[in-house]
Amino acid sequence: MQRLFRAPGRVNLIGEHTDYNDGFVMPVALGFSTWAKISPLENRKLQIYSENFGEEVEVNLDERLAPRGDWSDYPVGVAVELEKAGHRLRGARLEIRGEVPIGSGLSSSAAVEVATACALVAISDLQVDKRELARLCRRAENEFVGARVGIMDQFVSLFGEAHKALLLDCRSLEFRLLPLPDNVRLIICNTMVKHALASSAYNERREQCEAGVKHLAQFLPHVTALRDVTIEELEQHRAGLSEVVYRRCRHVITENARVLSAADALERSDLLAFGRLMRESHQSLRDDYEVSSEELDLMVELAQKVEGVYGARMTGGGFGGCTINLVAEEHAEVFQQTVASEYERVTKLKPEIYVCTAANGAEEVRS
Ligand code: GLA
Repeated sequence: MQRLFRAPGRVNLIGEHTDYNDGFVMPVALGFSTWAKISPLENRKLQIYSENFGEEVEVNLDERLAPRGDWSDYPVGVAVELEKAGHRLRGARLEIRGEVPIGSGLSSSAAVEVATACALVAISDLQVDKRELARLCRRAENEFVGARVGIMDQFVSLFGEAHKALLLDCRSLEFRLLPLPDNVRLIICNTMVKHALASSAYNERREQCEAGVKHLAQFLPHVTALRDVTIEELEQHRAGLSEVVYRRCRHVITENARVLSAADALERSDLLAFGRLMRESHQSLRDDYEVSSEELDLMVELAQKVEGVYGARMTGGGFGGCTINLVAEEHAEVFQQTVASEYERVTKLKPEIYVCTAANGAEEVRS
């Protein structure tokens, strides 16, 4: 019997590069999804077809599987990690179709991983806790694909809810769903400049954070991640840190505080305060963490000039991809036109603009 699953991409409202520092994030699951159609096979083979790439890959679950360096590493990595964790899979034919724009910071990879995981688990008659699934999908990306990402994307793809933002503590994996006001639109602007997450810059940021932790833990033994450090402590033990590592730490520490303030602001429906925090987040990512790009900075600048914009910032890993904008409903139309035409005039690139609503996390869909 054939079954169909979908898993969404995500946009992060605030809390960037905090997840792998045991910190806080506030993503939203998007209406864009990856779809996985699955039917069982009588052997232990996985036949995986990607509609986006028009390619099929076949692997044998009883063999030692190695990454091929292409799209198939994401679904195959998930199968490998499920098996390593002791979940024995049945062979299956899997057809994957993704509608999340690839390489634009909206987590097309997590959507593929989570859709694949849900489909494989269901067809193999397994019960796997959703938190465990999020961890295994992340591990697939860490171990098999080789990108040392945090858990935000996989988590929200599983746990997101319509009309809500998800405030996640990436250490305990406890979360709260925060209602988003009806009179505001989440507008994503795609710079059309792709990023490559597996690229060394992302892993390099992680190493710099680890270097910061190693230094600070000499003085503050309770520190196991930047989550545990206050800004005062960072200042106090600044000597001995390189200028770059100091700034990386400062971003993470101030960003964590911004996420918690943003959650308060959202609970009070104080969109002005929320927007201010988004702006500060962008500046910190641009100046301290240095993961923005010319195009992202331009997109944010253009957005901030438009009436009715509460806040604008880059979203996701950075180095290209998208911005997220919080815009009053009545100004959404003008916002799109103004930002699109100005961005195109300056860069000669035609941006894609998506007006989004928060959607539900992964689920089985009756075809
Ligand atoms: C990518 C990673 C996430 C997170 C963000 C930055 O999207 O997959 O785990 O680190 O970058 O916030």
